[in-house]
Amino acid sequence: MRVLSTAALLGASLLATAAGAQTTAPPAGRLLASNCFQCHGTNGAGPGFDNIAGKSVDEIYKELREMKSEKPGNDIMKAHARGYTDEQLRQISAYLSQQRSSSSRDD
Ligand code: HEC
Repeated sequence: MRVLSTAALLGASLLATAAGAQTTAPPAGRLLASNCFQCHGTNGAGPGFDNIAGKSVDEIYKELREMKSEKPGNDIMKAHARGYTDEQLRQISAYLSQQRSSSSRDD
């Protein structure tokens, strides 16, 4: 009986953890865009290579689509862009467009 109630308690706390994780889910596109942060900085706002945060969705999406459609060659971004579906590129662009670019930071 004691073992049973411990198991029940454990189960309940696991459920609570799962429910908690759901409410703190990252915004759409962030998980995909996090792949870009190592080179473009957290949320694409640098430091790193080109600042990609805070432009319009269409501007970022257009750049990524161009990179994806060009021949890959010896270019990291073309290779990178080809790894995503157009829908995923749209989600990444939408997320990055909502981030503050480093040039508009106060600090
Ligand atoms: C391994 C490093 C690396 C990663 C990872 C990376 N990038 Fe880049 N990115 C670069 C470099 C280097 C450039 C500049 C040279 C170029 O355009 O190829 C660049 C340029 C860009 C540009 C053009 C910016 C401009 O102003 O012309 C965009 C947009 C961009 N990256 C978006 C992304 C996105 C979105 C991701 C994630 C899906 C990503 N990058 C991941 C290295 C990286």
